[in-house]
Amino acid sequence: MPIILDGKKLKEKILADLKTRVDARPEKPALAVILAGDDPASKIYVGSKEKTAQSLGINSVVLNYPADVAEKTLLDKINDLNNDENITAILVQLPLPKHINKNNIINAICPRKDVDGFTPENAGMLFSGQKPYAYPCTPRGILLLLDEYGIEPEGKHVVVAGRSNIVGKPAAQMFLNRNATVTICHSRTKNLAEITKTADILVSAVGAKIIKENMLKPGCVVVDAGIFKDENGKITGDVDFEAVSTTVSHITPVPGGVGPMTIATLMLNTVELFEGQIN
Ligand code: GUN
Repeated sequence: MPIILDGKKLKEKILADLKTRVDARPEKPALAVILAGDDPASKIYVGSKEKTAQSLGINSVVLNYPADVAEKTLLDKINDLNNDENITAILVQLPLPKHINKNNIINAICPRKDVDGFTPENAGMLFSGQKPYAYPCTPRGILLLLDEYGIEPEGKHVVVAGRSNIVGKPAAQMFLNRNATVTICHSRTKNLAEITKTADILVSAVGAKIIKENMLKPGCVVVDAGIFKDENGKITGDVDFEAVSTTVSHITPVPGGVGPMTIATLMLNTVELFEGQIN
């Protein structure tokens, strides 16, 4: 059996440390989350972010908007939050309703409060090898989890399946910054299996159960950043967990792997932004 990369356990460890850091100061960080529309998965994520923040003593402000909210309403709110000295961190939950220009919204967030690291300034700092105010939560969480289990990316072939701004692209850049040899695959990649077979570490953020046992090199590390409900309502990821279990050396479960790490990293980013702001 492979070693399970237990994101839930590491999350608890990170949160315990953060609680001490938050408790140590009289002022508290505040995380503002903008949720527009009624995507059921987004509602669950935001609820979980709110609950976790509150458990650490982080003030959580969730701003709900209907699916037909005007772009200007969101831009005005972001401007208010940017100027509100009581607000440490701003997160706009994605996806946004179709009529909203996502780039306009992200670009409006003050980089110093951009807890996702999605603004052009923070993304640019990451891609030019400088330190952003925050690293995107899911890729940072993945690296923290690998570090916890002593899996060193340097010199390894890391294959990232998926090229989103949320996971694939920043993950690839963060592995490159750790001296890995990185290949990015995506929906138009012609020979996905041939490439994934050469991965020492495979990070998948593409689509349900796309990664099968015959696509992997024996002994590789698999990080599954997918999350889907299958036809029976069961939560699954990108990887056929049962089928690959005899091939891989380490694997993240779904649920309990990358998901909890994303939440833990969001809290870590919030506390770091706070400590940066008050120092
Ligand atoms: N939607 C799915 N993942 C994320 C994330 O990490 N941040 C934001 N803002 N939205 C998301």
